Amino acid sequence: MSYSPYLLQGQKALVTGGSSGIGAGVVRQLAKAGATVAINYHSHGEAAEKIVEDIKSAHGEAIAIQADVSQEADVKAMFSKVLNEFGTIDILVNNSGIQKDSPFLDMSLKDWNLVLSVNLTGQFLCAREAAKEFLRRGVQPQISCAAGKIICMSSVHQLIPWAGHVNYVTSKGGINMMMKTIAQELAPHKIRVNSIAPGAIKTPINKSSWDTPEAEAQLLELIPANRVGEVDDIGKAAVWLASDDSDYVNGTTLYVDGGMNLYPGFATG
Ligand code: BGC
Repeated sequence: MSYSPYLLQGQKALVTGGSSGIGAGVVRQLAKAGATVAINYHSHGEAAEKIVEDIKSAHGEAIAIQADVSQEADVKAMFSKVLNEFGTIDILVNNSGIQKDSPFLDMSLKDWNLVLSVNLTGQFLCAREAAKEFLRRGVQPQISCAAGKIICMSSVHQLIPWAGHVNYVTSKGGINMMMKTIAQELAPHKIRVNSIAPGAIKTPINKSSWDTPEAEAQLLELIPANRVGEVDDIGKAAVWLASDDSDYVNGTTLYVDGGMNLYPGFATG
């Protein structure tokens, strides 16, 4: 038996929302595992270019592509660029996501639609384009035993209700059923579709809940592992789900949350 240190050697990946937060962590881990990575960004072009430079200076390959994943024309143009540059695509990490929080009664239709269109419709549009290419190309056994892999970035909030965030939790609940249905439909074509459900990870989206000792202590009450997660925790899970090591894993959600989904309030019986 031989082990490859580069689980994703020769594979081409696209990570949406890859210029910051969890997306940037995923980009770096995929590149470290040998993948060539397209980093999609919406508005942080400089941050995306910086990651491209870092990867190139470590002898990896990466490009940055601007696109709004909620816009069909942008998504189609982004996939054309990826296919032109890389020839094909093997891995899609559907990661772009935003929060626009407010109490339910104050939530505007605009903020409801915005979050649903980026977090849920964006994943639908990107998954559809990726699947078209996976089906066109089929399996290349020397690259991967799958025709393609899609990883949807969900959240513990596909399971845990969250007052003040109805648009966000609804988008994540939707991702769960979208992911499972696409997985069911595409499995016969050797395409695998799975989700990662992160818990609290140190990123800009939730900075106010961990950047002071008081806030962090309150957050830790919700995390049995007693630490706030790092983006690499998610990046490493993404590498595994994208690799042939998880070939028999399809249509499932991998919770990477330090146990946040375990109803920690019940820990003392
Ligand atoms: C949210 C974060 C939050 C975490 C745990 C994530 O999906 O984006 O803001 O800290 O869930 O509640």
